[in-house]
Amino acid sequence: MKLIRTLSDLRTHISTLPRPLGLVPTMGYLHAGHLALVRRARAECASVGVSIFVNPAQFGPQEDLARYPRALERDLRMLGDVGVDVVWAPEAGEVYPDGYQTYINVENVAVPLEGAVRPGHFRGVATVVAKLFNAFTPDRAYFGQKDAQQAAVIRRMTRDLNFPLEVIICPTVRERDGLAMSSRNTYLQPEERRAAVVLYGALSAARNAYENGEQSAEALRATMQDYLAAEPRARTEYVSIAAPDTLQELERVDRNALLSMAVRIGQTRLIDNFILRDGKWE
Ligand SMILES: Nc1ncnc2c1ncn2[C@@H]1O[C@H](COP(=O)(O)OP(=O)(O)O)[C@@H](O)[C@H]1O
Ligand SMILES: [Mg+2]
Repeated sequence: MKLIRTLSDLRTHISTLPRPLGLVPTMGYLHAGHLALVRRARAECASVGVSIFVNPAQFGPQEDLARYPRALERDLRMLGDVGVDVVWAPEAGEVYPDGYQTYINVENVAVPLEGAVRPGHFRGVATVVAKLFNAFTPDRAYFGQKDAQQAAVIRRMTRDLNFPLEVIICPTVRERDGLAMSSRNTYLQPEERRAAVVLYGALSAARNAYENGEQSAEALRATMQDYLAAEPRARTEYVSIAAPDTLQELERVDRNALLSMAVRIGQTRLIDNFILRDGKWE
């Protein structure tokens, strides 16, 4: 496994790798969710590349860029065990050199939910992912369903800008109690960690209500809101029941819906979702 810092070294190395090439973009501090993406890429591609880059452009001024957890040595050991060909861990100045001023704005799908609470977030995400696509020229790129709106934004951008690659969205990997794995879970104090299971609980409650015949999106949103409100450590930022590809809020849930939420537990902001596709929960 080769660790590379500069873009020119990355390009040179990529040109030697057998195709198809799978790319897994990450911000590091890896967990089993990331590794599931890497394993999927390993199973489907002749070569696998991983990027580790805490992307300043996707953090708001009040967000956790400075304290975002980092553990490169540990990350490299974990990736070495799975079998990765190349890891690109650039400095910020390599990705955004002095004078940088070009950004990608995906429009409607990036506006609600995360886009509304985190202005500029998806502009940073779309920009860095486009740059990663240009750097690696992957045949397939792997992302997690945990970040459902991000998945929709990247799919849209990939189509709109004609990137010649396939975007593959992998299921959310969870802790035993249902909490979606996330690098930010490390911020949670023990009491908060116990409280954090409410996101999974609220989504499960809405799924149960739907399975028992409730199709009103408003009623299902209320089910999630009420469940979250019963946890004193939780502060809900939004709950949503929207179309999975456009993120437009729904009135009725029949065969396709994205149930999603952002919740603060203490200072830590967590997101989670369930997706109903063709009548099946993913
Ligand atoms: N629990 C998870 N299951 C599946 N994929 C995940 C999970 N957590 C993160 N990912 C995916 O890993 C990629 C990198 O995410 P990153 O921001 O580094 O991790 P995190 O969201 O945990 O902080 C994204 O495509 C993200 O959707
Ligand atoms: Mg993340």
